[in-house]
Amino acid sequence: MDIAIIGAGVIGLATAWRVAARGAAVTLIDPAPGSGATAVAAGMLTPVSELNYGEEPLLRLGLASRDRYGAFAAELEEDTGLPTGYRSDGLLEVAFDADDLRHLDDLRRFQESLGIPVQALTGRECRRLEPMLAPGVRGGLLAPEDGAIDPRRLAPALLAAAERHGARLVRERAAAVIVEGGAAAGVRLAGGAEIRADRVLLAAGPWSGDLEGLPPGIVPPVRPVKGQVIRLRTRVPFLRRCTRGVVRGSPIYLVPREDGEVVVGATQEEMGFDTRVTAGGLWELLRDARELLPGITELEFAEVSAGLRPGSPDNAPVMGPAALPGLVIGTGHFRNGILLTPVSADILSEALLEGTVPEVGAAFTPDRLVAAP
Ligand code: GLY
Repeated sequence: MDIAIIGAGVIGLATAWRVAARGAAVTLIDPAPGSGATAVAAGMLTPVSELNYGEEPLLRLGLASRDRYGAFAAELEEDTGLPTGYRSDGLLEVAFDADDLRHLDDLRRFQESLGIPVQALTGRECRRLEPMLAPGVRGGLLAPEDGAIDPRRLAPALLAAAERHGARLVRERAAAVIVEGGAAAGVRLAGGAEIRADRVLLAAGPWSGDLEGLPPGIVPPVRPVKGQVIRLRTRVPFLRRCTRGVVRGSPIYLVPREDGEVVVGATQEEMGFDTRVTAGGLWELLRDARELLPGITELEFAEVSAGLRPGSPDNAPVMGPAALPGLVIGTGHFRNGILLTPVSADILSEALLEGTVPEVGAAFTPDRLVAAP
């Protein structure tokens, strides 16, 4: 089977790896693989912390994906010899003041009601786990099964794995899905060349709605949601594990890596396709991070970037066969793209190769969202 995949972020790359390993002839189309939200993301594998109430189906999907990550990362590292920065040493969530602590308490009750293991901690216990936390931190929660991965290592490893199984990368922008006889038949590139395929996967993140050729009602309703992220560096031990905080109602997270990088994120802004870094965005992140970890101002500044998450109307991904035969959609992962990579690759591989969606993906198929023609 010939499969064309539009978009080489982690979702397109991981699916390319999976279907190429099962014998499909894969063409990946992207002018700059792994350079969108993938390159900006911190890589937290924390299914509960960014959920809103009422998003239990998404939580189940996130938990399923987190639970597949260990084997997924091990298989990828073995297949390529490349590191992914995978770690599963837990997530610490801390509260800055009494209101933030009440918020954390609600979160703990929600998790416990769903049978998710979580440990409530006093401020002192939080500081024992993370000695650099501010003395005023009121308390926290430890989610022992959460973790992180380094998206900037994950993407090249996935590309290498896909290529190792025969996938071909075309570094060009996809302009249109070719539709013939009422079915997707390939992709037309911006330069005019055509790539014919039996199946097309549309995994272009927030740009998934921009392609020509698709009939009305097929295009997934995704929009860009901007996130600004800061990267710092430390040469001395600073933070041991992923740490999130709520500071006077504003969420903030810090993801440490073994090489000394500390990622601080993230803003959430509805600004269209705008990736400018703003003084206000940086100030808010550093202000809140410093409240939780005063020593952060000593760290070396490394980088600041802004990415575009693919948001969907219900915050959940859009994955599975489209109403147009031959087309499969894989976008809308919003704040969860890195977390949902293993399970999305499984769902999308089955959709591409067999035309079906496994039970774990049943609540996320495109028919729930796409507007009627
Ligand atoms: N999941 C991290 C973020 O969207 O900022």
